[in-house]
Amino acid sequence: MDEQEGRIVAMEEQQADDWQYSLRPRKLSEYIGQDKVKDNLAVFIQAALQRGEALDHVLLYGPPGLGKTTLAGIIANELGVNFRVTSGPAIERSGDLAALLTNLGERDVLFIDEIHRLSHSVEEVLYSAMEDFALDIIIGKGPSARSIRLDIAPFTLIGATTRAGALAAPLRDRFGVISRLEYYETGALVHIIKRAAEILKIAIEDRGAEEIARRSRGTPRVANRLLKRVRDFAQMENSDSITERIADQALQKLEVDKAGLDHTDRRMLDTMIRKFAGGPVGLDTLAAAISEETDTIADIYEPYLLQLGFLNRTPRGRIVTRAGYEHMNVPYPEDSSLF
Ligand code: ADE
Repeated sequence: MDEQEGRIVAMEEQQADDWQYSLRPRKLSEYIGQDKVKDNLAVFIQAALQRGEALDHVLLYGPPGLGKTTLAGIIANELGVNFRVTSGPAIERSGDLAALLTNLGERDVLFIDEIHRLSHSVEEVLYSAMEDFALDIIIGKGPSARSIRLDIAPFTLIGATTRAGALAAPLRDRFGVISRLEYYETGALVHIIKRAAEILKIAIEDRGAEEIARRSRGTPRVANRLLKRVRDFAQMENSDSITERIADQALQKLEVDKAGLDHTDRRMLDTMIRKFAGGPVGLDTLAAAISEETDTIADIYEPYLLQLGFLNRTPRGRIVTRAGYEHMNVPYPEDSSLF
């Protein structure tokens, strides 16, 4: 994943993204897009508040950069409780998790990012914590070992993952709310870009915001990052506002094409078309051909290309669609007798 660092359309968080924290909405009403998820959460939050209970555990899943952490922070804020943040890989031993859990206050929110990467032994501790608000701790070793049950405060676990399918069923089943975040529509991204521009005191025309939105892979994190780079180009041109032309030229220089694809996305489509006659090609074969990790392709590149309809998954492998060929300016092979 390290090669994603510095990639301007990378959907995962990078160190250079720290400034984006200041853009994060704090209330549900400030959060743009994901209407279905938001509307449902508003009901569950209000109902839990009315009952004076901890909100049921929530699982948020979807591609990186769509605002899972932001949304979790908003939920805690709306509930008026503390927000504790950690991640699957950061919790190495079950003792680490026990320490986190015993320090939670009544109804607090514990957020575990990349929850699919928890180790098995840590996950087991989570089961009784989620279900009974209790920890089973083994004391001693060998024949004299015994288990004691320790109560913890009722809390809400919010888990985030890019792949709900990667979660063990017993863990998945313990979430009362499971919400899938979708790629953002261009209209929602335009709003997000204009909101960010206002906070960052950048002047932007509607059509400038639309141009950036269309090329942001449906992802606010990418939109905000592109906005800052486009601003640099506008400044160097002595323009006091980001226009459509400036946005377009800047994004061309950044090698982000009209659909938001960068060099690697295009290389992947190009390889599939030229080396594999458009497919079907297996994920491992494709990964080897473009020297990328299989997981990187599955989690990062492929979802957006599928969303655009440039790729399709078939039982025999991935294929480039007619729209994919057209985007790459290669005539679609009409002879489909092979399929
Ligand atoms: N910044 C990043 N994601 C956002 C969202 N969904 N709404 C408002 N601002 C955002």
